[in-house]
Amino acid sequence: MSARRSGSGSLAAFDAMWSDLESVGQARSGGYRRFAWTAEDHTLREWFAGECARRGLELTTDRVGNQWGWWWDGPGTVDDAVAAGRRAVVTGSHLDSVPDGGAFDGPLGVVSALAAVDRLREAGVRPQVPVAVTNFVDEEGARFGIACAGSRVLTGQLDPARALALTDADGTTYAEALRAAGRDPDDLGPDPQTLARVGAFVELHVEQGRALVDLGAPVAVASDIWPHGRWRFDFPGEANHAGTTRLQDRRDAMLGYADLVLGARHVATQRGCVATVGKVHVTPGGVNAIPSHVTGWLDARGADEEQVVATVAELTARGEEMGATVTRESWTPTTRFDQGLSERLRRVLDRDAEVSAPVLGTGAGHDAGILATAGVPSTMLFVRNPTGVSHSPAEHAEAADCHAGVAALADCLRDLTTG
Ligand code: GLV
Ligand code: MN
Ligand code: MN
Ligand code: MN
Repeated sequence: MSARRSGSGSLAAFDAMWSDLESVGQARSGGYRRFAWTAEDHTLREWFAGECARRGLELTTDRVGNQWGWWWDGPGTVDDAVAAGRRAVVTGSHLDSVPDGGAFDGPLGVVSALAAVDRLREAGVRPQVPVAVTNFVDEEGARFGIACAGSRVLTGQLDPARALALTDADGTTYAEALRAAGRDPDDLGPDPQTLARVGAFVELHVEQGRALVDLGAPVAVASDIWPHGRWRFDFPGEANHAGTTRLQDRRDAMLGYADLVLGARHVATQRGCVATVGKVHVTPGGVNAIPSHVTGWLDARGADEEQVVATVAELTARGEEMGATVTRESWTPTTRFDQGLSERLRRVLDRDAEVSAPVLGTGAGHDAGILATAGVPSTMLFVRNPTGVSHSPAEHAEAADCHAGVAALADCLRDLTTG
């Protein structure tokens, strides 16, 4: 990957890092395929390690594979600082993507975090607590099905034995993928020692909706994450010839699946939630064969937890009537970010601003939410996305807004580490 640097300063560094990443895992669609523990992921992890080394940040990798680059110029080691009650302020996000995802979901937070460290150093800031930049592994769960796997295992919210047994579309287990990436699956587990270093976590992220466009503001502070989860519906059937099998003799697994897709839209509409069936696996998958098995994955979310739970219960009952086996793959209840931290960051952003930074909730899951659930004071900053689109190549953020995000993040880090 190119190590080109144009001009100087943190914003030039941001631009150079951004162009470094442009070609990694780019798909024909113009979007990105950067799945956990693949060759693309390896390239991104090496890139992250290189950026930490370039800055003299001490790189550590926790028991899950999440990467941390530590900046501490104070007396003793980071652990000495932590033992003395100076826990780190951490910022970062993830570098993996959904299938054909946008360039910003994840990388914007990592690149901005590194650029924010540069900016603080340019300004001669000397943090009173360690600062760390992090790259969480497998945030999207695109390969193995469970989103935020890296932060969930780290914090004890995902059993390592369960994680190791997850399989990808080719039948490769998480354990095998770890081994192929040079990691020992036996090492996978919660890492309370690393977690104990973290005093606060701030994740900068591209906005995944239109609120900031409509409000005319470049940066917002987060308040909460909607409850959300993923469920697997397995519909049984019987393979047979598409031309010679009478309709009344068929057991077509696709019918139950079709009912799930339409039911999800209908029930979610009635209950004021959102529900999506975005992934399907059809067996045997021949145009001229009646499906013997269909697996569909339901993603359900909403502002009102009770309504999300009721939506899924209704769809589960309906699926079971169609013969489905329904398995919950993940569930994240309503997550509230640390209100004091969010308010503090908002005050920082409002210092020189004409209009107050908006405070937004989101329907998207994030590692910051998993850390918040684990008791780490956490919050997020959102950067305006003019298309309002995410998990698609159309996701976007203008350079000026990205730079505003870096400045905002640096101001927040400065306040949190010197205030
Ligand atoms: C992850 O981005 C999710 O919210 O699905
Ligand atoms: Mn995402
Ligand atoms: Mn993300
Ligand atoms: Mn996400």
